Amino acid sequence: MVSEVIVLAGPASPSLSREVAVLLDVECVEIEWKIFPDGESYIRCPIEVEGESVTLIQTMFPNQDKRLIELFLMLDLLQDLKAGEVTLVIPYLAYMRQDKRFMDGEAISIKTISKVIEGLNVDKVILIDVHSPLVLRYFKTEVSHISAMPLIGRYLKKLDLKDPFILAPDRKAFALAKIVADALNAPCNYLEKKRDLITGTVKTEFKQLDVADRDVVIIDDIISTGGTVANAAKIVRHLGARSILAACTHALMIANAFEKLRNSGVSEVIGTNTIENQFSKVSVAPAIVKVIKSA
Ligand code: R5P
Repeated sequence: MVSEVIVLAGPASPSLSREVAVLLDVECVEIEWKIFPDGESYIRCPIEVEGESVTLIQTMFPNQDKRLIELFLMLDLLQDLKAGEVTLVIPYLAYMRQDKRFMDGEAISIKTISKVIEGLNVDKVILIDVHSPLVLRYFKTEVSHISAMPLIGRYLKKLDLKDPFILAPDRKAFALAKIVADALNAPCNYLEKKRDLITGTVKTEFKQLDVADRDVVIIDDIISTGGTVANAAKIVRHLGARSILAACTHALMIANAFEKLRNSGVSEVIGTNTIENQFSKVSVAPAIVKVIKSA
């Protein structure tokens, strides 16, 4: 047993929390929660935590504003209940894509979110594949940043892919794609993408890639509407890829994203349990536990 650590499962991360607790061989306690008829959130901690070190796990998939309110209530409650050291695991950090002012007058959303979290007395934060290094700079608390990519690489290795080729759908995802490519000992490349700041529409430049008759894996941090990966898939399908898989850390898969990906040639979407849904095929629990144990 890791001594005196309790894993508290936030409303949004029940199964990941249980897995982390099992791997740590500690107790997992589910925070009690409900939503009142008018939409307001209610939070209760069913155990005494005074003086106890706690690891609170709460992800932030849509409705992310609800997830944030739940988090704020839980953190303030832990302070009221005089919990000892609080380690906060945020598997998917909402608002992290708005990490700077892209246009004059815009709010830097992640700066605001990090300020509120830190104002609620967190000792350590564990984040997974944040959108950019800039995100980490807004936290003054000790942050451990981990990547799901080695675990995704391990998962892909078991699939017995034929001549795999790893592709980042934009320059930003190239560093992540390289981790997977190294794990598979496969070639890796990236595409150039531009997003219209007003409409959100994504345009991807065509590039000659040696993907003919290969199993291509497109790697990104987030799949949201699926537009970015769909554009990349269309290019490699045109170039004669044998099969196309998409893998990411945070599979938000908003609205008809899966249909969009299927129509562009993607046969499977591999996500992790930073967001618990049908695409969670890789668990990030071992990576979280490694960080907690090394602290
Ligand atoms: C943005 O740069 C991110 O890394 C992802 O590429 C983006 O969030 C994916 O969004 P969508 O699936 O809506 O294209």
